[in-house]
Amino acid sequence: MLERLQREIAAAGGWIPFARYMELALQAYYGRGDQQFGPGGDFVTAPELGRLFGRTLARPLKEIHGPILELGAGSGALAETLLNELDCEYFILETSPALRSRQSARLGGKVKFLDRLPEAFRGAVIANEVLDAMPVHAVGWRAEGVVERGVSLDLTWKEKPASGAVLEAAKAIEVPAPYDSEIGLAGQAWMRSLAERLEAGVILVIDYGFSRREYYHPQRSMGTLMCHTRHRAHGDPFERPGEQDITAHVDFSALAYAAHESGLEVLGYATQAQFLVNCGITDVLAQANVENALHYAPLAAEAQTLLSPAEMGELFKVLAVGRGLEQPLLGFSRGDRSNTL
Ligand SMILES: C[S@@+](CC[C@H](N)C(=O)[O-])C[C@H]1O[C@@H](n2cnc3c(N)ncnc32)[C@H](O)[C@@H]1O
Repeated sequence: MLERLQREIAAAGGWIPFARYMELALQAYYGRGDQQFGPGGDFVTAPELGRLFGRTLARPLKEIHGPILELGAGSGALAETLLNELDCEYFILETSPALRSRQSARLGGKVKFLDRLPEAFRGAVIANEVLDAMPVHAVGWRAEGVVERGVSLDLTWKEKPASGAVLEAAKAIEVPAPYDSEIGLAGQAWMRSLAERLEAGVILVIDYGFSRREYYHPQRSMGTLMCHTRHRAHGDPFERPGEQDITAHVDFSALAYAAHESGLEVLGYATQAQFLVNCGITDVLAQANVENALHYAPLAAEAQTLLSPAEMGELFKVLAVGRGLEQPLLGFSRGDRSNTL
C-alpha cells in the first residue's frame, strides 16, 4: 500500500489531494475483507449491535411499498434484518469486492447486486454510515487565503493554494482563520447523481454529522477527520494506511442542498434518537419478553446505545430526501430539524 501511494504521489509531482489519499487508503481498507465490523473489529455500526435498529427502520420503509437499494452494506446485517421484516426486492451496491462476497454468502439469492447506480429507481435508498467513508478534501483557511491540504511523498501534510471546485466551495464557508476542516465534494456529487435517478421514493442518509452551522463552528477549528482501529479512535490519517478506517463527519446541509438542486424535497432531518422514537422503537421493544432477562437485557443495552445522547443518539442524524411520496414519511413527526439545514 505504502509503495502504491508513494508511486502515485511521485508521479503527480510530490503531492496529491487528501481526497485521493483517503480514496486509495479506504479502497485498500475495505478491500481487505476481514472483520472490520462488530465487537472484534475496528468499529461497531448500528446494524451490528443487533436487530433493533433494522426492525425499527423497517417501519417507515414498509410504507414506501417499493424495492430497497442499500449502498455500502458492510457485513450484510441490516439487509438480513430488513428482509426478515419486509417482503420486497432488495438491491445492494457495494464498492468493496471482498465485502460483496461476504454479503453474498450471508444473504444468498435474496438480494441482487448492482455494479453501478441504476439509470432510474423507484423505492427507498438507504446509506447507513457510508457517507462518512466518502473521500473529503482537506482545506485550510489562512490569513493569506485558502489552502488545500494534501499529502506529500513522506506521507505528511503539505499545503498548496486552493483552486477550482475546492476553492469555490471553501469561499462559500465563513470561518475564522486559521481554521482547518473538510469539504465533502464526493458525497455531494454522489447525492446529485442519486437524486437525478430517483423517479419516486426516498433516500435515507444515516450518519454522524451536523448541519453546516455546527459543522463549521468556530470552535471546531481542527476539522472532523477521525480514524478507527481496534475500537481506538484517533486523528492521524497517515498511520498504517490501508489498515485503518478513515472518516469525516457529514455536512448534512451540503447533502440536502445537493438533493434540492436536483429536484428532491427535504422530507426530514432529525437526530437518530428522535427518528427511531418517532418510528416506534419503543413498540418494537415492547414486543420483547421483559420477563426473560437473557433475551431482554441485550435489547435494552442496544436501545441504550442507539438512543443515548452520550452514544449514537445525538451525534448520528437521519436525513430523508425524496419525491412523489403519497403521505408524510414516518420518522419526523416530532423534532424535525430541517429548518436548521
Ligand atoms: C462504515 S461501513 C458501513 C457498513 C454498513 N452500512 C453498516 O452500517 O454496518 C461503509 C460501507 O460503505 C462501503 N462504501 C464506501 N464507499 C462507497 C460507495 N461510494 N458506494 C457504495 N458503498 C461504499 C464500504 O465498502 C462499506 O461497506
